[in-house]
Amino acid sequence: MQRKVIIDCDPGQDDALMLFLAFASPEELNILGVCAVAGNVPLEKTQRNMCILSDIVGNEKVPMFAGRDKPLTNVGLTAEHVHGRDGIDGIDIFSPRTKLEPKDAVDFIVDTLLSAADDEITIVATGPLTNIASAILREPTILPKIHEIVVMGGAMKEGGNITPSAEFNIFVDPHAAKIVFECGRPIVAFGLDVTHQVFTSPNVLERIAKLDNRVAKASHGMLAFFGRYDAQKYRAQGAPLHDPCTIAYLLQPELFELKSCNVRVETDSELTMGHTAVDFWGVTGLRANVEWAHSVHRDGFFDLLIERLSRY
Ligand code: RIB
Ligand code: CA
Repeated sequence: MQRKVIIDCDPGQDDALMLFLAFASPEELNILGVCAVAGNVPLEKTQRNMCILSDIVGNEKVPMFAGRDKPLTNVGLTAEHVHGRDGIDGIDIFSPRTKLEPKDAVDFIVDTLLSAADDEITIVATGPLTNIASAILREPTILPKIHEIVVMGGAMKEGGNITPSAEFNIFVDPHAAKIVFECGRPIVAFGLDVTHQVFTSPNVLERIAKLDNRVAKASHGMLAFFGRYDAQKYRAQGAPLHDPCTIAYLLQPELFELKSCNVRVETDSELTMGHTAVDFWGVTGLRANVEWAHSVHRDGFFDLLIERLSRY
């Protein structure tokens, strides 16, 4: 059955692959809109990148919205050292045909949810959670309309990637993450523990290079660039495909193993700001508020990704 989805992202090469996977799957996903948030690069670039990626997939009907340009409380942080100056380095930047809607992303999220039935809309969030939290703060009555929130964010065994104890999306806006994780709606979280099981490799890039379409060529260019930093940092052969895990879960949930856990977000400590305290072994006795992804079938994940890229 087709699922109604709102996507919120901070493109980002891995956000790009997430969007490519989502737009290749119209039988499973009815994408109501895509929203940009400040994250990997400032908002003026993530919103532009979103529209560039819309052009690349040939999108002519899904609307694009710009959201928040800074976190709820903390000072913003970007990751050009990972994603490059433009955020989707690895492809030529151009002025996109796709234009942003005049409506603000938070207004779009609130209005879409208010007009939906209960439990009808899935939210996919692969950047800092500022837009989602802003919508919840603005209009808490949207909450019953959310079927589930599928988040790329957090870390347990993997510690952190932007600090020793925090993952980037959560670290950039921990107050927003706390609001989302504690909102009471079903949360499925893909943290570094699972995304670090899907590093790209020369074989993956070779398989993508063999696909003869514009999206695959853009994917290859971006992943070749995106792999350089993490390959050196983790002494790996490529980069972890964080964000596509969210859409892969929606398409083939059987690829992943999840565990119901209580997850809380650190919003006070300077040392551990943005840490996700994942109670994997249930020692707190607190209510499990998150389905925490902890394992993925790597080959199945890349077979799915490459098969969908081949459809363009
Ligand atoms: O920590 C990885 C996450 O932060 C990914 O979503 C990446 O795109 C950045 O947003
Ligand atoms: Ca992202």
